[in-house]
Formats: sequence, C-alpha cells, structure tokens
Amino acid sequence: MWYQTKATELLGIDYPIMQGPFGGNLSSPQLVAAVCNSGGMGGYGAYTLSPQEIIETNRQIRMLTDKPYNLNLWVSDTDVPKGEISDEQYEQARMLFQPYFDEAGIPVPAKPAPFQSRFEDQVQVILDIKPQVFSFVFGIPSAAILEQCRKAGIITAGAATTLDEALALENAGVDLIIASGFEAGGHRPSFLAPAEQSTTGTFVLLQLIREKVRTPVVAAGGIANGRGIAAALTLGADAVQIGTAFLACEESGATETHRRMLFSDKAKQTILSKAFTGRLGRGIAPRLALELAGKENLFLPFPLQSTFMSSLRKAAFEKQQWDLIFFWSGQIAPLLHHTKATELMQSLVEETTARIQR
Ligand SMILES: Cc1cc2nc3c(=O)[nH]c(=O)nc-3n(C[C@H](O)[C@H](O)[C@H](O)COP(=O)(O)O)c2cc1C
Repeated sequence: MWYQTKATELLGIDYPIMQGPFGGNLSSPQLVAAVCNSGGMGGYGAYTLSPQEIIETNRQIRMLTDKPYNLNLWVSDTDVPKGEISDEQYEQARMLFQPYFDEAGIPVPAKPAPFQSRFEDQVQVILDIKPQVFSFVFGIPSAAILEQCRKAGIITAGAATTLDEALALENAGVDLIIASGFEAGGHRPSFLAPAEQSTTGTFVLLQLIREKVRTPVVAAGGIANGRGIAAALTLGADAVQIGTAFLACEESGATETHRRMLFSDKAKQTILSKAFTGRLGRGIAPRLALELAGKENLFLPFPLQSTFMSSLRKAAFEKQQWDLIFFWSGQIAPLLHHTKATELMQSLVEETTARIQR
C-alpha cells in the first residue's frame, strides 16, 4: 500500500503524513493529538518555550494521545553576536520603522533587551521527556546530543534547504531528512548557505536529495492535498510534512483572523521577508514587507527584530491594520479547503488513495 513506507515503519505511524511543527505559539496540543489520533505524526514547535513550558506542553499532549508525536526546536535561535546590538543599529531600525509605529499610533519601543540562546536548556528537557521524535531546524545538534537521542530511542529529524545540508545531516547520523522547499510557510531554516541563496523548490530539492542520500526523506513545502502527496511519493519521498493546511485548522494556535486570511484572496500573494523577525520567512505579503524589501541591512538581527516588532503587531491587530501584520502562510494556501484537522487527515488519505489507484 502507498502508505507503508520506510518513514511510517521508523516512526510507528499509519500514514506518511507529518503535521509541520509551528514555532511562536502557533502549535497546540489539540492539533498534535488530532493528527496523531488520525494516524499521522503531530508536531509541536517549542523553540520559544522555556524548559518548564516544554514539560507542561508535553504533559498536555500525553493526556490527549498515546500515539507517537514530534517535539521541535531551533538549533540556532539567535543571530545576535554577544546577545546585544549597538545603539547605532537600534537607531537605524528606529528611523526606518518609525512611520509604521506612527501609523499604528504607538511609540517606537526602546532598544530590545539582550538575548541568550535557549537551545541547550531546551534540548536537555527533550532528552528527559523522550518524545518519540525530536525534529530540529537551523542546524544540526552536536554529536553528543545526537548520541544521547540514539541511546534514549528518540528518532531525530533535521530540515535541509539544500543538498549540502541534507548530506551534512546524513553524515551526522540524523534519522530523517526534511526537504524544506521554498514554497513552505514559516521561516526558511537554512544553516550552511544564507537563506536567500537556498531557495530551491520542494520537488527539485526532494529529487536532488533522493538521488544522493540513503536516509528517509520527507517532502515539506507546497503540499496540501492527495495530489501533492502522490506526487511527492512518486518523486521518492518517504513521507510529507504539511504546515499551512494544518495551520488553517481550528485546532491550531493561529488566531481566527489568521485562519480567515489563509482562506482569503490575500493568500494568493505570499512573500519571503525578514522585516518581522530578522530571519527570512514566508507569509501573506503585507504592505510593510513590500515597502521595506531591499532595506534588510537596516533591520535588527533575529530574534531582536521580532521583539522590536511585537508592540506594532499587537496594536495593528487591535486596529485591524492588516497591512502591518505578517500572517505566516505557504504558497499553497489558495488550495486549502479544510478547517478541522481530523477531516483534513481523512481527506488527505482518501485523496491520495484515489490518486494512486488511478
Ligand atoms: C507559521 C509557521 C511556523 C513554523 N515554524 C516552524 C518551526 O518552528 N520549526 C519547524 O521545523 N518548522 C516550522 N515551520 C515549517 C513547517 O513545519 C512545515 O515544514 C512547512 O509549513 C511545510 O510547508 P507548507 O507550509 O507549504 O505546508 C513553520 C511553518 C509555519 C507556516
């Protein structure tokens, strides 16, 4: 059967369908459980959570499902050398963004407080709570961490945006490689070349990786229905990872406005922008991102740009100034139909079966 693959065997799931984890509180235990209980692999993006919050989230997931699930972290979670930016950097960003804060009727925030990486503490919790799967983006954990995962029986999955990244993940002994295409919603999780130079589409990337690596490959980006799953499997994927279509479901952590946007005409135009977090990510193109394209050298580094923009996001949301807000979305959004994760899962399985039987 089409749904029995190396990935389903490794992960202990019924269908080779992974729900893409979402960072920034857009994941939810309810979404993870709905996908797991429907035979897929639910995932929770935990990179903004404290160790204690990860423990609590894990507890909630375990109350809702006894199936395997995936917890996800960012290996590199800061681009701020020494944790701080200079006054001059802050001043440049302040001047550039001032008109947008004026438009939202709020003052430009003060220079963001320094940021220190949280990955080391977060990964210790992952090793303690032992989810069946630990997936990660923006790098490869150290050999010692990967060895501890192996000993604890935790399956590891790392994202690659280029063939070189996939080869590096394979050489490190990672169990699954997520081929993350340029179409995908969310950040572009490159870690060898800059994200702007790592913009291969899912189906080319998948084939390049399939040709050169033996590790099972998961196709991620631009897949939202049975036709996409059948195509990915035909091109050599062992599973798919679907983000935007699950983000649009009511179980996700996205606001109702965000979910409505994904089904609106606005979702026809997405853009890769650094304006909202400091790292390149795809969302529905707001005026702010279009106007500031080409001025990236004046933005703050990740994650301080995100801290800097948080009050603008809140004020613009309250005043419904959607042109100032980045609604994360992949290019596939105009094809979305489902608003419930269980129904989406069922339809993905039925559509793929029908496609493959043809
Ligand atoms: C809002 C949003 C946040 C995301 N955050 C993460 C994350 O923290 N970690 C991760 O591995 N992938 C993250 N992703 C990528 C998804 O897990 C998935 O690979 C991707 O959405 C698949 O492409 P699609 O959106 O075209 O379906 C995110 C995607 C979105 C849309």
